[in-house]
Amino acid sequence: MSGQLNYWRLARDGEDIAWLTFDRAGESVNTLSSAAMRELGEVLDMLDAAPPRGLVIQSGKASGFIAGADIAEFGQVSDVAGARALVERGWALFNRLAGVAYPTCALVRGFCVGGGTELALACRSIVAVDEPGTRFSLPEVMLGIVPGWGGMLRLPQRIGLPAAFDMMLTGRALDAKRARKLGLVDDVAPARLMREHARACLLSGRPRRALPLLQRLLSGPLRGVVARKAAEGVARRVSRMHYPAPYAIIEIVRDFGGNAQALPDAHPASMASLVSHPTTANLQRVYHLRERLRAIGKDVDTGGGTLPPVRRVHVIGAGVMGGDIAAWCALRGLTVTLQDQGIERIAPAMQRVAKAFARKFRQDRKAVRAALDRLIPDPTGAGVAGADLVIEAIYENLDAKQSLLRDVELRAKPDALFATNTSSLRVEDIAAGLQRPERLVGIHFFNPVDRMMLVEVVRGAASADDAVRRAAAFVAALDKLPLPVASSPGFLVNAALGPYMLEAMKCVDEGVPSEVVDRAALDFGMVMGPIELVDTVGLDIAIAAGARLTAGAAAPACLLRHAAAGQLGRKTGRGFYEWKDGRPVRAPLSAVPEGLGRRLVEPLVAVTRRCVELGVVADADLADAGLIFGAGFAPCTGGPLHYDSCNTATDGKTT
Ligand code: NAI
Repeated sequence: MSGQLNYWRLARDGEDIAWLTFDRAGESVNTLSSAAMRELGEVLDMLDAAPPRGLVIQSGKASGFIAGADIAEFGQVSDVAGARALVERGWALFNRLAGVAYPTCALVRGFCVGGGTELALACRSIVAVDEPGTRFSLPEVMLGIVPGWGGMLRLPQRIGLPAAFDMMLTGRALDAKRARKLGLVDDVAPARLMREHARACLLSGRPRRALPLLQRLLSGPLRGVVARKAAEGVARRVSRMHYPAPYAIIEIVRDFGGNAQALPDAHPASMASLVSHPTTANLQRVYHLRERLRAIGKDVDTGGGTLPPVRRVHVIGAGVMGGDIAAWCALRGLTVTLQDQGIERIAPAMQRVAKAFARKFRQDRKAVRAALDRLIPDPTGAGVAGADLVIEAIYENLDAKQSLLRDVELRAKPDALFATNTSSLRVEDIAAGLQRPERLVGIHFFNPVDRMMLVEVVRGAASADDAVRRAAAFVAALDKLPLPVASSPGFLVNAALGPYMLEAMKCVDEGVPSEVVDRAALDFGMVMGPIELVDTVGLDIAIAAGARLTAGAAAPACLLRHAAAGQLGRKTGRGFYEWKDGRPVRAPLSAVPEGLGRRLVEPLVAVTRRCVELGVVADADLADAGLIFGAGFAPCTGGPLHYDSCNTATDGKTT
């Protein structure tokens, strides 16, 4: 034992309580690298030698508690021995922590991810600090692996199997209050009293709240039933062939007591099988692509001098997009004014937003009120004068957008940034009438705004570098992923999605049922089938976009037929499908022809490649990121161009 700690600080207070602070030197976040975990083992040795009255584990980082395992180390694991060692490391250490003779408490402030949550679960009690950033998650499934360091064993014991499956199979995070309600944490404390709460929890000697009887039954004798239901839910979303990890979680919990070490290596749910599955490497790629997009928005200071942050936003157009963009900005803490042609046009958006906020904050009236207070209806456009950013989201009409922005320019602050949400017009054309066209960029949100992570940041021919960088920073501050693209028809995502949907409708014209077309895409790994996507976008919008993007090529007969009958998709209750309760009603499936999935994505791949060649997007990785996060392109493939390059390589080998 060295006694010299690099990752942890250990101190004892006057009451003989040991305070162990995770503070990885030289890093802004704590990750559970093998060295940090080895050192935690050494700390436990020290405490064994002189047991304290209790142990509190906390973080020394302002950013959060623990960000999970060290993903760079994990990326190097690809063989059976490596997979075994990876699981063994955390399983043994956290079992040891769970078994110490003195009481233990995890004091969690900020994010608590993956291995961090498993460490907290191994403590006897958990105190969460009541702040919006405090969030517990087990997102291993999103990297193609399982929570093998005790999460699959201890989470169901704390919150019951159905809720545990929900967390582990989706990667969804719980905030402090929700975690308390479910029983994941024992106490929620305000930041200024967190140490007192941790101390009280530690010394109370109170046994942990037992699971209610029903939950005990569901996690015990009825485990098989719960597992079957969970597996059915997973099967509706993803296939085992492409996404083995959620199936593995269910089996390890059901058949092996949550112990990933108990499986033989050859078992399809074993960690060894998972790390050698191609999806796992591809999902790690997706993780790194997401980080790269995030970094684009965070990188605003590197050009020398800090760009002014955006605090006040003025949105013009309270329709489908403008209303939701304004809502999202208010939700993220910005002050927003929302303008339209009259208060009667703004009112429906405000009502929609109020409902959405109430759902989001689970009727917490104070939180709803605070978010709504930041969103100000502004029929006269008075907010323009104080706005750092003006976003226009009015009809897709060049003259209307030009004259609107000309007028805005006369009243806006000299350093205000202007943005258009246009999906098909050229940014430089919209900027044409401005005195300073360099301050206009495209900030292209996707519909629905609250669900789509990607936002294209469009550089027009005249856009200034600073304007583009500031827009990217704004998008990142909204917790979205900014993708810089050039102002070309359809930018990247719609340019690539169009031919994909067209190919799908060609198949329907050839007599393939919509259900079969969509199934083929889902089997390929796509997040949504292309026909369902057409119904969701709206058939009228698909026709208009098709006409703009395909330079007058004939629209598919099936599309025109449905549209002529007024069947415009989800919004009219009928399109290619009939829609009930927000879901398409599907006819029973006939066989899916071999190679159909591949046929559907080929046009998308070709356009994506062309967009890289033409410089619409800077490189192939960013193009892949755009299509994964903006179009739901199969994450298990690592993106369209990655998929294509792997396939070309395989084809080369086999021929
Ligand atoms: P929408 O038709 O739902 O809303 C447009 C709103 O703008 C209307 O409420 C209208 O009253 C208002 N408006 C029109 N002229 C105005 C003016 N001079 N001053 C103030 N308000 C004015 O349109 P939507 O669908 O929200 O589209 C808006 C923009 O977003 C368009 O440029 C569209 O291409 C783009 N977009 C649309 C997407 C979608 O799925 N609907 C997705 C991404 C971008």
